[in-house]
Amino acid sequence: MAEIRIRNTEERIQGEDNVRAFLEKQEVLYEHWNPAKLPESLQQKFTLSDEEKQQILATYDEEIHDLAVRRGYKTWDIIALSDATPNLDELLKKFENVHTHTEDEVRAITAGRGIFIIKGTDDVGYFDVELEAGDVISVPEYKPHFFTLMDNRQIVAVRLFIETEGWIAHPFADEKFASNKA
Ligand SMILES: [Fe+2]
Repeated sequence: MAEIRIRNTEERIQGEDNVRAFLEKQEVLYEHWNPAKLPESLQQKFTLSDEEKQQILATYDEEIHDLAVRRGYKTWDIIALSDATPNLDELLKKFENVHTHTEDEVRAITAGRGIFIIKGTDDVGYFDVELEAGDVISVPEYKPHFFTLMDNRQIVAVRLFIETEGWIAHPFADEKFASNKA
């Protein structure tokens, strides 16, 4: 289940209802899919063949279509990252810059863990959303954020898009962020 850490105060928010209520206030969509639906052989697998990616999409076909119909997503795919990913460190460095998009950024974690760092309302500041398998998040358009992995450096997620071009990152220069960094 997702957990929140507010960077300014180190406050942690746990429990599905609390996390959902906090994220709702920040206009971040949070939902949950059943991680046990995935065949056990795929629950800890981070290097995936095309067939295995299709298998994951087929497992969550109903959830994907439900979300897509509600929110207008037209395409989806699977992203898998782990130490087996060529240039993982370079990729992560590229990810770890605060940026915005012209459409919302949707990730449904199917294995592993990851963190979204999001710029919240002024009273909250930056907060981390620590995600694990089953967590589904949508960061709204124009909301500054970045994504990174957790210590185990392994994740598989479904990404959903309205248009793939909408996912181009626009840097968000924020001097305050450096002093905010944990
Ligand atoms: Fe992003």
